[in-house]
Amino acid sequence: MTFDLILVGFGHVAQRFVTLLEEQRARISGAYGFDGRVIAVCTQRHGRVFSEPGLDASALLERRRRGASVGAECLDLSTVDFIRDIARRVPSAPESRLVVVETTTLDIARGQPAIDHVRAALECGAHVVTANKGPAAFAYHALAAAAAVAGRQFLFEGAVMDGIPIFNLARETLPAVEIVAFRGIVNTTTNYMLTAMEEGQPFDAALADMKAAGIAEADASLDVDGWDAAAKTAALASVLLGARITPHEVVREGISASTAARTVAARAAGRRLKLVASAARGERGVGARVGLQELAADDLLAGLEGQQNGIIFQTDLLGELAIVQRGSGLTQTAYALLSDLISIARQGRAHKSAPTTA
Ligand SMILES: NC(=O)c1ccc[n+]([C@@H]2O[C@H](COP(=O)([O-])OP(=O)(O)OC[C@H]3O[C@@H](n4cnc5c(N)ncnc54)[C@H](OP(=O)(O)O)[C@@H]3O)[C@@H](O)[C@H]2O)c1
Repeated sequence: MTFDLILVGFGHVAQRFVTLLEEQRARISGAYGFDGRVIAVCTQRHGRVFSEPGLDASALLERRRRGASVGAECLDLSTVDFIRDIARRVPSAPESRLVVVETTTLDIARGQPAIDHVRAALECGAHVVTANKGPAAFAYHALAAAAAVAGRQFLFEGAVMDGIPIFNLARETLPAVEIVAFRGIVNTTTNYMLTAMEEGQPFDAALADMKAAGIAEADASLDVDGWDAAAKTAALASVLLGARITPHEVVREGISASTAARTVAARAAGRRLKLVASAARGERGVGARVGLQELAADDLLAGLEGQQNGIIFQTDLLGELAIVQRGSGLTQTAYALLSDLISIARQGRAHKSAPTTA
């Protein structure tokens, strides 16, 4: 089977996804029996392009490296209409082969227009994989319901903590276990900056490192003001704890240049200053928070340095369960998109081999 991929957004993450797909092509085809070809790319200011037999992804990457646009098709259409138009132009297959890979920028006001992109894709019969936090943070329950109605998948493993299989972990490996709370370090940029400031690097220089690595958000204030972590917290709370909150209901604190002195003082006292995201079920529903905390040195989260991140789940049957990522970056996020594609392929196979009842 070959997945026809519509890339909505073609920035850092999507470009790394395309190269990773190429690098892993033989392994994926051998182990999971599918291939992926990019048939359309849509950006905001760098053009659009479509080719039913598939596009030359390396030529597109080269164009973007040179700062050129990817193409000039359908520029009069909105992104939603572009998705609909492409879906109409691709012949329907007995099993859905169409996948929209949504990697547009995070909008912290309402999660738009990414939510509309996801909804339009599902309505057109496409699966959706996304690294954008907006859809899961603002509209998880509605989009999961839309996916169920459409009989398609809406997956977003890369939206929270890059390659760490958070949602897969809960969905695939914890049957009958209830997650009642979590706490974690979920924003790479601020964790890197806190570690760097502890070691004497100025705030601006540390932020510049994360921008240069393509890890900071396009609008880096989303990272430093805690919004990115709040969006992840809302997504985690919605999916894992059944909450119905948006990032705006997460109590939020960020970091600033003045945080540097606090990181140094905490370290001198044998503690670590960390931006901790947490949520827990309580009598009045789910409470969620992102805030600076001085952690004891033996706290698992205190040991997460630089680009590392991790999360500790509190469960009803297994006690505490933690997962840590020692290196995060574009490859890990791109891998998460790839792992979502593999999930779709597996689900398709399971569907086919399921016994039919008369
Ligand atoms: N970077 C990371 O390490 C990382 C990690 C995890 C999750 N994420 C999430 O992944 C997403 C992408 O991140 P990124 O670093 O790749 O961002 P990016 O480099 O800024 O790329 C964003 C892409 O989306 C396009 N775009 C924005 N609005 C659009 C619209 N309305 N219609 C069509 N295209 C639109 C942009 O078009 P132009 O090219 O014309 O600007 C650009 O191609 C974000 O939501 C981010 O939060 C990123």
